[in-house]
Formats: sequence, structure tokens, C-alpha cells
Amino acid sequence: MRIDIITVLPELLKSPFEASILKRAIEANLVEIHFHNLRDYTSDKYKSVDDYQFGGGAGMVMLIEPIDKCISALKTERSYDDIIYMTPDGERLNQGIANQLSLKKNMIILCGHYKGVDQRVRDHFITREISIGDYVLSGGELGAAVLCDAVIRLIPGVLGNETSALTDSFQDNLLAPPIYTRPRDYNGWQVPEILFSGDFPKIEKWREDQALIRTRERRPDLMDD
Ligand code: ADE
Repeated sequence: MRIDIITVLPELLKSPFEASILKRAIEANLVEIHFHNLRDYTSDKYKSVDDYQFGGGAGMVMLIEPIDKCISALKTERSYDDIIYMTPDGERLNQGIANQLSLKKNMIILCGHYKGVDQRVRDHFITREISIGDYVLSGGELGAAVLCDAVIRLIPGVLGNETSALTDSFQDNLLAPPIYTRPRDYNGWQVPEILFSGDFPKIEKWREDQALIRTRERRPDLMDD
């Protein structure tokens, strides 16, 4: 998979890709991440990426021209499965969307800033709009980092067996069950007896029951789908 991220603040985005699982995925050539600074595609001496809104009103709007130049340059090199715009009014990210995107080959992610982009960018270049939740960030960069993390860890080979994504919360519309490790007794707080029974079908059944109880208590909305 290749992800091209278009941003006015590349420095805000770099560190999540320089540690841990994402770093290993890049080093293993399972994913390529390329950052494109929108200012490199500007044509005036101020390197403007935004301007006042037509019709008046507070807040700047990102210009279509540098975005067009950047996306068009990328498209001459390869074709893209999706051109994603990070925005609070997009479809809300969930595990299903992350699963879908993990199967793609090439994606562009455009990070919004200020009030957002000129609507014509959305109408003519963007194929998918994604929000990471119902709150407003100061830009799309942190959202893009969240999206990339959720997607990249699902690419086959990125996680080892010990961290398999198959047992994650949400993978089957259920939250994950409680988990424990050593010591068995900490200050008198005991690990559930069943986990030491050696009866793996029974342990599996207990985990499923716990996942159901937890989901019913905390996220009954997941069970409606
Ligand atoms: N940009 C600003 N807020 C955002 C959000 N909630 N999700 C994605 N991109 C954003």
C-alpha cells in the first residue's frame, strides 16, 4: 500500500510514523508513506494556500489551485483507489471503514485546515470524506494519523500473531473481553479462576460471554447493527 498525504503542516504528521508498529510496517515495505507540502504547489511569492471566503464570514478557505496541482501531479504517476478528505462533516471512521481501506493499493489523504477547502475540491477530486469523531480538530493531520494507524495495522504481515487484529475490539461488532497477566494475585485482587482451568473451549466461551456483557453495558448501539 502507498499513502500520499497532502498537508500544510507535514511536521505535525511525521512522528506517528517514526515509532513502533507503523515504523516497522514502513521498514518492512508493507506500506509507503509520502508527505506533500501544499506550499510546494503554490504559484505566488507568498506561497498562499488559503484566502478569504466569497460572500464574507470569518475564517479562511483553502485554495483549489495548489490542491489541484498536487493531486494532478500524483495522478500522473499512478492511479488512486481513493482520494480522502479529512473533515468533521465526513462519514465517521469505524472498524468497517478501516477494514475496507486496508485492502486498497494507493490512497491520497488531504488534510483540511482553517475553515476547510473550497467546495469544488470536494466536488471534483475527493472520493471519500472521513471524520474521526464528532469534535473539531485544528486540522486534518491528527485525523489522518489516526486513520493511517487504524488502516496500516490491518495490512497482512504488519501485526505478528501475538497482536493479531482478529481479536481486537469492534472486529465482530463486539468490544474485547477483559484480559489479565501476572501476577495471579495482586493485593488480593484475583484473576478469574476459569483462565487457569486449561479448558480452552470453556475459556473461549467465557471470553465471548464477557465480550457480550461488556458490549451490552458500554456500547449497546454496536449490537443494533
Ligand atoms: N478536521 C477537523 N476536525 C476533524 C475531525 N473530527 N475528523 C477529521 N478531520 C478533521
